Amino acid sequence: MTLSVKHLLGIKDLTAQDIELIFQTADNFKEILKRPIKKVPTLRDTTIVNLFFENSTRTRISFELAEKRLSADVVNFTASASSVKKGETLIDTVNNILAMRVDMVVMRHSASGAPHFLSRHIQAAIVNAGDGINEHPTQALLDAFSIRERLGEIAGKKVAIVGDIMHSRVALSNIYCLKKLGAEVTVTGPPTLIPPYIAEALGVNVTYNLREALQWCDVANVLRIQLERQNSPLFSSLREYNLVYGVSREVLDSLQKEIVIMHPGPINRGVELNSDVADSGQSIILHQVENGVAIRMAVLYLLAGKRGEIVSGN
Ligand code: CP
Repeated sequence: MTLSVKHLLGIKDLTAQDIELIFQTADNFKEILKRPIKKVPTLRDTTIVNLFFENSTRTRISFELAEKRLSADVVNFTASASSVKKGETLIDTVNNILAMRVDMVVMRHSASGAPHFLSRHIQAAIVNAGDGINEHPTQALLDAFSIRERLGEIAGKKVAIVGDIMHSRVALSNIYCLKKLGAEVTVTGPPTLIPPYIAEALGVNVTYNLREALQWCDVANVLRIQLERQNSPLFSSLREYNLVYGVSREVLDSLQKEIVIMHPGPINRGVELNSDVADSGQSIILHQVENGVAIRMAVLYLLAGKRGEIVSGN
């Protein structure tokens, strides 16, 4: 089985079969990551560059670990310490890197569509590690994989996505992914942080009432308030946001059931999520981070078009 795409630019481009193939491949890699020797020689002939034009902790480390577990040669590029600061363009930067015979590019950029632009100009396989407010496909894959792991399956499950939907690439990729896999999705948050036509455009439910969304769902994926992408204030204060839309122990205890809590990170503790929830047994936040390595190994392996035995790497 192979993926229907040459690049991973967004979940929008994937079929449900692609996503299932990535999950099945990640299941195998997750087994390998539990072994004393966590490394396989599968990509030993492959060079991958991680191009990060925007800050990252989880995604960048997770991709680098995934690449090293697969024995790829890895080069890291940070825009803030590069010739981008001297005015070099994106296409010149990438072409210079590719002249050094790189096979795959993992890219994060603040401009929506940057990896799509690049895919039209270069031969190497591209993995989108987050582009502006558009998509963050590997985050959505690891989120859905983590729900599948906790609840057994995705189809028929009810997932609430909470908070700053407007500026969130995680929200858009999660909506595409969950709906392709048969889940029902509700978005909730202040009206100023929810795009007006999202219900019609993406087939999700909308409520501005947090408690109603939490009472309805099996899983709540709580999003970071992205102040850096808000040009003008969209709610009165962080304190008021926490009082109305923060997921707290009090609100969870008032529900008639126990739901699963997720967050892609980084968390603004005491804003969208309180610590007594983030660090509780209901939270699978660190499982999401753990699963990110296996998911990214699966994506890199499948895009590299490798055949044969994953486990031995022969
Ligand atoms: N979830 C996520 O993308 O986190 P980073 O910005 O730290 O990579």
